[in-house]
Amino acid sequence: MKRKPLVVANWKMHGQSKWIENYIHDLTKPQGQSGQCEIVLCPPFVYLNEVRSLLQETGMGLGAQDLHDSEHGAFTGEISPHMLLDVGCKYVVVGHSERRRLLGETDDFVAAKFAAACRNALIPILCVGENEGEREAGVTESVVRRQLDAVLQVCGNEAFAAAVIAYEPVWAIGTGVTATPAQAQDVHGFIRNYIASHSSASAMRILYGGSVKADNAVMLAQQQDVDGALVGGASLIVKDFLAICAGFSK
Ligand code: PGA
Repeated sequence: MKRKPLVVANWKMHGQSKWIENYIHDLTKPQGQSGQCEIVLCPPFVYLNEVRSLLQETGMGLGAQDLHDSEHGAFTGEISPHMLLDVGCKYVVVGHSERRRLLGETDDFVAAKFAAACRNALIPILCVGENEGEREAGVTESVVRRQLDAVLQVCGNEAFAAAVIAYEPVWAIGTGVTATPAQAQDVHGFIRNYIASHSSASAMRILYGGSVKADNAVMLAQQQDVDGALVGGASLIVKDFLAICAGFSK
């Protein structure tokens, strides 16, 4: 099944107004656009509105980097799915390893966030992936299966029908060490088969994330089950990000 490639810029905690204006100006110059690949920007929360207005008429989409699992309430500092919809988000990253590792997000909390996104017509981009020790111990598949099971238990078998999964090996994030195309394909294939044993998975897009750069995007894109990328560091430089998008516009 043909899946439209999706390349997502995860700016993390980077970018301020002037920089954003210049970035989107450069990104959306006519020669920079690629119709074959869906492009989504995930700025920090406080810039979502600004990015939304700058992206108007460009065909590029907006996503958030996180959400809370409640629609509203006394949760100081948190952002609800309603708010993300209100500012024009289509996608939301859920369970990024930095949040799991540094902010203590558990599989169950991530599953609750995934459910909140689905309830509110946001498309979750669920991040899964093993750390270095887990890869060395040969337990990559069981770690990824555990992370997927948490969502399946809360959201049911159809949970992934409209979702995106990002396989992001923790040892590859921000390290400059990218998974080889074969390593990525192995886990992507595993994820697709595992989801397929519960629900339909042939249309589901599985992104790779972890030190994606212009020079490794093409090889990654050639893998059968790699349908795009979640890009951190390299998404901050327009030229590099566009080269990655071109690599996935197969
Ligand atoms: P990176 O980050 O591209 O800088 O490795 C990817 C991510 O964390 O989503």
